[in-house]
Amino acid sequence: MVVILLGPPGVGKGTQAIRLADRVGWEHLSTGDLLRAALRDGTPLGDEARTFMDAGELVPDGLIMNLVRERLSGLAPEAGILFDGFPRTTAQAEGLDGVLHETGRRVDRVVVFEAPEEDLVKRLSGRRTCPVCGAVYNVYFNPPARDEICDRCGAKLVHRSDDEPDTVRRRLRVYEEQTAPLVSYYEDAGEPVMHVAADRSVDEVQHAFRAALGLESTAP
Ligand code: AP5
Repeated sequence: MVVILLGPPGVGKGTQAIRLADRVGWEHLSTGDLLRAALRDGTPLGDEARTFMDAGELVPDGLIMNLVRERLSGLAPEAGILFDGFPRTTAQAEGLDGVLHETGRRVDRVVVFEAPEEDLVKRLSGRRTCPVCGAVYNVYFNPPARDEICDRCGAKLVHRSDDEPDTVRRRLRVYEEQTAPLVSYYEDAGEPVMHVAADRSVDEVQHAFRAALGLESTAP
């Protein structure tokens, strides 16, 4: 199954994708995580992406499509995929349609996570992530057992530099301008687009997410 997760920064796309991928064994393909790995490794792609990410702007479509193509080429044709943070523009959505078509696949479901802006800002200000295994925490809502240490792998947690308030505001605007129109893009293409209210507990959102994918009944 090929699933696209849409929704503004901080809505919980990564949190929900990691949970589901752990449970069902699908690939979690987050372009944000791939870019941050490139930054850490000091690759040419990381160097090119840094300025855009620090400013809360989108990395150019060509770089992103190369990254996604490379990642997809290493996956088994039948692998389930959760796209998190990709596509972000109409050009990327068209690019993805082409890549999937080449491999006999298509988008099976688009899930749009929604929450009020004040929740997003609070979540991002409290977010801590593990630079080693990618686990996501929150000092307000989901703290690690030991302060600033990852429960899964023991690494020291970090606060993302693009979670500073000014950059968060820019990322929210960029989402509205460039990514939110993809909801209509997929609706107009006749793809099944499901909306999930994400302003509730992580467990409740996960349940609604799985229900939206037909993986369990809608009753909580
Ligand atoms: P990316 O890494 O994709 O960031 P994003 O889309 O802005 O999304 P976030 O990771 O901030 O939020 P999320 O929805 O995953 O929330 P999370 O689960 O972490 O992109 C970063 C940058 O990379 C972009 O700005 C751009 O420069 C570049 N980039 C990436 N992809 C690109 C592309 N395709 N094209 C161009 N540029 C690209 O949760 C947030 C916090 O809330 C956590 O602390 C979590 O614990 C907490 N939380 C989650 N759910 C709940 C809940 N239900 N209740 C309470 N707290 C919760």
